[in-house]
Amino acid sequence: MYGVTKVYPGDVVALAGVDLSVEKGDFVFIVGQSGAGKSTLLSLIYRGATPTKGQVLVGGRNVIRLKRREVAVFRRKIGVVYQDFKLLPERSVYENVAFALEVIEAPQKEIARKVSAALDMVGLSHKANSLPGQLAGGEQQRVAIARAIVNDPLIVVADEPTGNLDPDTSAGIMALLSDINCRGTTVIMATHNQLIVDRMRKRVVEMENGRVVRDERQGMYCHEV
Ligand SMILES: Nc1ncnc2c1ncn2[C@@H]1O[C@H](COP(=O)(O)OP(=O)(O)OP(=O)(O)O)[C@@H](O)[C@H]1O
Ligand SMILES: [Mg+2]
Repeated sequence: MYGVTKVYPGDVVALAGVDLSVEKGDFVFIVGQSGAGKSTLLSLIYRGATPTKGQVLVGGRNVIRLKRREVAVFRRKIGVVYQDFKLLPERSVYENVAFALEVIEAPQKEIARKVSAALDMVGLSHKANSLPGQLAGGEQQRVAIARAIVNDPLIVVADEPTGNLDPDTSAGIMALLSDINCRGTTVIMATHNQLIVDRMRKRVVEMENGRVVRDERQGMYCHEV
């Protein structure tokens, strides 16, 4: 993205001239204080929002130029994982993961194959018929990750995916995101979790007041002194 500014109604400047480029296959942590603009930045990538100024290019497409019809197709290329999982409570684990494929009316056979593969990947094949409420938080997040990867996306965008989980469960989620990244999927993750960032030694982009103030290849949560 180039020169990206996002102003919310009420003149709230969430991003102020952000330049950021992420290579295919990268793993990037976005860190920074609450209100720094992390979630806003991520929402521009999955086109949950559009920039006020500047350009956001994802997989060679300028996301602002997408027509309404193209947006749905575009979003399939991006898997999103949220802090609070955002699963459909009345639907089974299988149905939650299958949902994105059913919307595009994929053949039932293909849906079944892709959903089993995704549930396998996150180690939850045996819970396919459970409802989200019957699962632990870490399991629910794994379902959300299965849903994010079921369409074999270019990018997985995760906004504080471990924010509601204990340290052990969080480590499991990170191992899973690492595996997904190793298979070639770009992962961009906002987090406040210092332990995770320091352990993984991946690229760290720090934001402050809507700007990128640090970008390190194998960074730590805090500045090294
Ligand atoms: N929908 C919105 N309408 C108005 N202002 C918003 C909206 N979403 C975010 N903001 C404001 O934009 C700024 C950046 O918010 P953002 O959610 O991107 O921060 P963040 O870094 O993700 O914070 P946190 O760590 O708390 O999740 C904040 O000042 C916030 O109040
Ligand atoms: Mg946020």
